[in-house]
Amino acid sequence: DRVLVLAGGLSPEHEVSVRSGRRVAESLRRLDIEVQTADVDSALLGRLSSDPPQAVFPVLHGAPGEDGVVREVLEVSGVPYVGARPDACRRAYAKPVAKALVEARGVAVPRGVALPKAAFRDLGARELVDRIAAALGLPLFVKPDQGGSAFGAATVDSADALSSALVNCFAYGDTALVEERIAGTEVAVSVVDTGDGPTALPPVEIVPDGGVYDYAARYTAGRTEFFAPARLEGAVAEAAKEAALTAHSALGLRDLSRTDMIVEDSGRVVFLEANVAPGMMETSLFPMAVEAAGMDFAIVCRELAHRAAL
Ligand code: DAL
Ligand code: MG
Repeated sequence: DRVLVLAGGLSPEHEVSVRSGRRVAESLRRLDIEVQTADVDSALLGRLSSDPPQAVFPVLHGAPGEDGVVREVLEVSGVPYVGARPDACRRAYAKPVAKALVEARGVAVPRGVALPKAAFRDLGARELVDRIAAALGLPLFVKPDQGGSAFGAATVDSADALSSALVNCFAYGDTALVEERIAGTEVAVSVVDTGDGPTALPPVEIVPDGGVYDYAARYTAGRTEFFAPARLEGAVAEAAKEAALTAHSALGLRDLSRTDMIVEDSGRVVFLEANVAPGMMETSLFPMAVEAAGMDFAIVCRELAHRAAL
């Protein structure tokens, strides 16, 4: 058996992906699986055709991994791979599209607007932020409509702060997603399918020390407290798992995913986004959920690779 782990990529999440890929590769090697790692470059297609591995395990965060582009290359090469197909990646990666599809299946989503950079320029910052604040109320959450690891994301408590949040957001992409900020408990639910159908793992609760789960809170050990499983009532935890399974199916995902959500104090679950290549490093949520389920991370990786190669 030989598995090729793809990690790195071209997005601001490059470093996170390298660390995620290392963890997956080391885990597989511990089970005596031959693993090679590669980044995304012009040699990839040639490498896949001249020396095809049994399976590819893409651990690329952001573009061109989670947007489906590299998986198009994998489809062309005919090498089996772990995870969602390109079309499903595109649906999940475009957050407004994902929200619409998941909402259509009965899961609540935050109200919001997708705002192209050009609109911001044309209308003038002042008028635009006033309109948005009037329509959605405060506080707000701003993030690029695509991307991950909280790059370009900010919480906003005033119309003034919205302008600068948008400017920062546009540094990471051409469209900002401005949403009402949902109050409640931040929870991530991982879904894994090693052959018996998609299974939701125990919800993981995220409590960042400064209240905001930003880049530093995500990747600095000790900055965020995690509860795995989340401190949710049984019925609420079930609803969170159900929402993740609904998102997995509504977006047409495969093998693994992680759905991020807010659970309001009322118990209502609000979908934020689904990730087709969840973080796999030491402080990441998917491996925590696997452990909380009493499963072994390395074995789950092996089963995913095997299933892809069947
Ligand atoms: N985008 C980061 C890696 C995550 O979803 O975990
Ligand atoms: Mg994400």
